[in-house]
Amino acid sequence: MRTKIVAGNWKMNKNLDETEALLSELSAKLPDTHAEVIVAPTFLNLVAAQTSLQSSAIKVAAQNMHFAESGAYTGEISADMLLNIEVDTVIIGHSERRSLFGETDDLLAKKTKTALDKGMTVIFCFGEELEDRKSGNHFAVVESQLKNALFDLDNSAWNNIVLAYEPVWAIGTGETASPEQAQEMHAFIRKTIAEAYSTSIAEEVSILYGGSVKPSNAVEIFSKPDVDGGLIGGASLKADDFTAIIKAI
Ligand code: PGA
Repeated sequence: MRTKIVAGNWKMNKNLDETEALLSELSAKLPDTHAEVIVAPTFLNLVAAQTSLQSSAIKVAAQNMHFAESGAYTGEISADMLLNIEVDTVIIGHSERRSLFGETDDLLAKKTKTALDKGMTVIFCFGEELEDRKSGNHFAVVESQLKNALFDLDNSAWNNIVLAYEPVWAIGTGETASPEQAQEMHAFIRKTIAEAYSTSIAEEVSILYGGSVKPSNAVEIFSKPDVDGGLIGGASLKADDFTAIIKAI
């Protein structure tokens, strides 16, 4: 179902003490909101985050997972391990996983399929590089990322997918897509899904924008009709900034 979502991707930030401190500040300052609020700390602190948030409406997600059930995959984490600690949401395909860790569309398709088969919710990230935008290739790149990783899925899989459009040139750079650029791409994404599946699936999927969202630009970005919320990196690491962004929605 299409819902408003504000998700914080903490990346490789915050040790255990810092995680507990940020979550207790966040819980105390959390504004009344109709939006779903999610935080994704490092794997190491997921259990502590769940404990800290026991009586909070904030949900915990993982930043990544492996596609295999279990086995000889040193350093990896499985869907069942996440579910065992009651983490049922996972970010897949973040641009840092793609560019720094060589994750391909094929690998992301496998991870997504496993997570969905296990009943998890996937926040699937994708977006074009600066050169793609400069050369006017951005729509084609986004379309192929979606097609290659997601378009073999059944209709029902879409109930558990959240999309996060994150133009790579806007991630951690301070440069944000304009609200018009975000709206234009989000509308294109819905059209692409409508063509591959159906208008109702396209209308029901939540599409988040990510890339240098901050308190000063969140209202304008979130006001666009096809933008259902944000995946927030840097600004999710400070309770005041993250809560201001939650208020913006
Ligand atoms: P940023 O990161 O908000 O720091 O640009 C967004 C993301 O990587 O999800």
